[in-house]
Amino acid sequence: MQDYVSSGFSRKRPELVIERFDVQEPEATFPESSLPESAESASRDDDLQLIASEIASCVRCGLCAGRKTTVPGEGSLQPPVMFVGEGPGEEEDKSGRPFVGAAGQYLDKWIPAIGLRREDCFIANVVKCRPPRNREPHPEEIAACLPYLERQVRVVRPGAICCLGRIAATTLLQRTTSLGALRGKVHEWKGIPLVVTYHPSAVLRDNTLRKPVWDDLKLLKAVLTGAAGKS
Ligand code: URA
Repeated sequence: MQDYVSSGFSRKRPELVIERFDVQEPEATFPESSLPESAESASRDDDLQLIASEIASCVRCGLCAGRKTTVPGEGSLQPPVMFVGEGPGEEEDKSGRPFVGAAGQYLDKWIPAIGLRREDCFIANVVKCRPPRNREPHPEEIAACLPYLERQVRVVRPGAICCLGRIAATTLLQRTTSLGALRGKVHEWKGIPLVVTYHPSAVLRDNTLRKPVWDDLKLLKAVLTGAAGKS
């Protein structure tokens, strides 16, 4: 893992056995940048700030009416992993930062299990405003907000995406199957390996999910180190 991090995540991506989801048309993968590293970093930072400023004034769906602040996401500009959750909760809505409440504190314990620190990763959500009483975001709210997440992924180009919970997984994979059916495989999203696991809040409510999450984190680590085998 350290090799991967110290190489600036530039090591050739290993051959992966990837579960492709059905798409009508082939999707473009994100091209590699030809900018020098420092210019590349500055440009990514600018792009992320632009996206965050658009989110800050967004009125694309009704969630804007109840928000205290928007929660665009945060983290490394060259993340090995981008974690994607569902949407901000109360603490996130107050602070403007993703995964800082109880679920976030639990997620902070998962990340070292794959040899990373929180600040090495990028952490974002499918919707950027808190749904009332933490209900699941509605399909039209997800559809309105998804372009922001897609742009964020395009800017930071993570080595892998880890979906936390059913909403993130079914949104990015465009599937309606259960989370259980999506786990345990390496999927792909626009050329980026994608692994699915339970949401930290679900695991805090149900201890029996700890073992499957550990298995998913091991799969994620295998993707990052190039050791992912057949799923
Ligand atoms: N749950 C989420 O899905 N995202 C957060 O940022 C916090 C809790």
